[in-house]
Amino acid sequence: MTLKGIVLAGGTATRLYPLTKVTNKHLLPVGRLPMIYWPIARLMEGGITEIAVVTSRDHMGEIVNLLGSGRDLGADFTYRVQDQAGGIAQALGLAENFVGSDGCVVILGDNVYTSPFADGIRDFAACPQGARIILKRVPDPGRYGVAELSSDGKSVVGIEEKPAQPKTDYAVTGVYMYEPGVFNVIKTLKPSGRGELEITDVNNHYIRQNMMKWSEFAGEWTDAGTFDSLLHASQLVHELAVPEIVKSVLERRA
Ligand code: DAU
Repeated sequence: MTLKGIVLAGGTATRLYPLTKVTNKHLLPVGRLPMIYWPIARLMEGGITEIAVVTSRDHMGEIVNLLGSGRDLGADFTYRVQDQAGGIAQALGLAENFVGSDGCVVILGDNVYTSPFADGIRDFAACPQGARIILKRVPDPGRYGVAELSSDGKSVVGIEEKPAQPKTDYAVTGVYMYEPGVFNVIKTLKPSGRGELEITDVNNHYIRQNMMKWSEFAGEWTDAGTFDSLLHASQLVHELAVPEIVKSVLERRA
């Protein structure tokens, strides 16, 4: 089955103020690239070329200026405006018509992975039922969605969003693969304590249905939403070659 890609690049990025006063977090530099090219590259390495980029009204112009139609990359970009930062699941909901009857791979625009996870995408494309997430063991799980595993370690039995006392050190990284029915799940969500439609609630739905698959990411991963993690992301990719699949952007002239 064809999978569509969705890059979520909305939100307010207040934690990075004033870096984000006049521009979008996802345009800040991470190594030699504006941040958003890292998640785009990871989708494209998995064979995904039809990609919707969701961002806020304030910065849509700059995002489109940077990415354009996608033709130079061999991609086809579609854009959606999220009027207010109502959460990751709300942002995903805006891509319903774009995804149609296909499955989708959603990636957070501030997540940086040092190597591809194309196999995971291809596995899901072969059987796009339920959902699939990618976990990574981290020293500071309380900053993330944290997955609890069954006693045999085979399945995820629940995810807690930023728990004060994490049950494991398995962070849920910012890539999520879903069957087309995910949009009906989003319509049942209620805002969380922080006033957002939470992707963790979507994932817990699939866990309850016994329809959640997972794998562990072997490379390095970080988000880049705080000063410390933005620096860490830059350090992780500093010595890394720009992914081949987006290399043409290095040559573009103004
Ligand atoms: O980085 C992985 C973590 O991302 C997961 O472990 C968590 O389960 C998940 O909830 C999320 O946590 P954060 O609270 O760190 O997400 P944040 O609000 O920083 O948003 C991450 C990206 O999602 C951001 O770069 C842009 C996009 N986003 C976010 C919101 C709230 C949107 O496009 N629209 C939104 O309304």
